[in-house]
Amino acid sequence: MSNFTYPKSSQYTDLDTIYEQCSGPGGLKLAEFMAHKMGLLPGTRLLDVGCNRGWQTCFLAKEFGQSAVGIDPWADRVSGEPMAEHLRRNAEAWGVQSSVLALELGVPDTKLASRSFDFAYSTTALEMLRVMQGEDGYLAALKEILRVMRPGGVFGLGEPMHLEVALPPDLEPYMSQPEYPWKECFRGLGQTTAAVERAGFTVSEAAYAPDAMAWWREYAAHDPFCKQKPEEDPKAIEADGGRWLSFGYIIAQKPA
Ligand SMILES: C[S@@+](CC[C@H](N)C(=O)[O-])C[C@H]1O[C@@H](n2cnc3c(N)ncnc32)[C@H](O)[C@@H]1O
Repeated sequence: MSNFTYPKSSQYTDLDTIYEQCSGPGGLKLAEFMAHKMGLLPGTRLLDVGCNRGWQTCFLAKEFGQSAVGIDPWADRVSGEPMAEHLRRNAEAWGVQSSVLALELGVPDTKLASRSFDFAYSTTALEMLRVMQGEDGYLAALKEILRVMRPGGVFGLGEPMHLEVALPPDLEPYMSQPEYPWKECFRGLGQTTAAVERAGFTVSEAAYAPDAMAWWREYAAHDPFCKQKPEEDPKAIEADGGRWLSFGYIIAQKPA
């Protein structure tokens, strides 16, 4: 465990709602951890790539004074509504509608103007591109994020990753999910950092999050799909027990 105390997100205590409105390990704790690492400054412009229903976007707008754009190209698989619609509604509920813009767009073709953002943030989103579009698609997504950031801007990438060890054979069935198998989506920290550098960023910090397994366990206990199917992701997390699975983060700058 880390000694980071989550001063802002610890005030949001309804973990069932947080994990219903976010998607993946960490929820608002992840967003706060990343904001802290990125040195997010009030009154700056943030792009949230793969914002899902946008609770992290709203949290960052409200608690860190961001003018935020959340992009997500998909529809919600429960209601069929675009994620951007959820973000619009959530921004009203959070009282941040004047500082949050929701757009139904994705990387690598965002159509956003170059040099538009001081900060960019993406958590638990880009790794899926490896399955959909391969390593080239992953790299193209990073290059697009670089393009829309202003020179000197800061990018925070938070991603489910594996430790730099071979997948233990007994975990093979657990990490071979039919949709977005974790063994295909997840990479080690070194390989992910190399991709961020190859895209043109200068990396200032790259590490496995000290609370990675606590975030995964919280996800297993509170995510609605995990609650419906405890024999799937929760079982994989339990079987792993911190042997292969982790969560990494990379903080990088667009060269000035
Ligand atoms: C697992 S959710 C993560 C949501 C949130 N960032 C979090 O950490 O809780 C991943 C999101 O990435 C979105 N996504 C999928 N393809 C994308 C793309 N090409 N560009 C941006 N987002 C994408 C999905 O629609 C989904 O909402």
